[in-house]
Amino acid sequence: QHLAIVNGPNLNLLGVREPHIYGSETFEDYLAKLRTQFPEVDIEYYQSNVEGELINFLHGCMGKKQGIILNAGAYTHTSIALADAISAINVPVVEVHVSNVLAREDFRKTSFIAAKCVGSISGLGMRGYELAARWFVGSETLPKG
Ligand code: DQA
Repeated sequence: QHLAIVNGPNLNLLGVREPHIYGSETFEDYLAKLRTQFPEVDIEYYQSNVEGELINFLHGCMGKKQGIILNAGAYTHTSIALADAISAINVPVVEVHVSNVLAREDFRKTSFIAAKCVGSISGLGMRGYELAARWFVGSETLPKG
């Protein structure tokens, strides 16, 4: 099984950035542990701070990945282009946020991508990625959002 984890802007700074909100573990350290939890799954990781690059990566997942775990960072709350990309590709996407976006500023309460995704996980810390991966691995027929 081939999954992709895609992190958007500023998530390269996980572990360093606002640790009281996002924790003190780097994504690289977390990912190494995650891969050992899913030895049978090929997990490709992609991070970009550039909206168009994220869109290009999503397009490239067509026909290659069974699922995508996407933390679009602040583009969640702004990007119709990213929402359209999720609609355009025939690959199910699960939205993940490390923090509980509904418990923060009002501008984080809108997600342009949520309705295009099969589901969303928010506020469960880094474990949100693991829970999303577990959902994909347990899914025989994967629905498209
Ligand atoms: C985030 C939440 C977003 O509102 C924020 O812009 C981020 C990270 C999260 O993982 O909690 O960059 O997606």
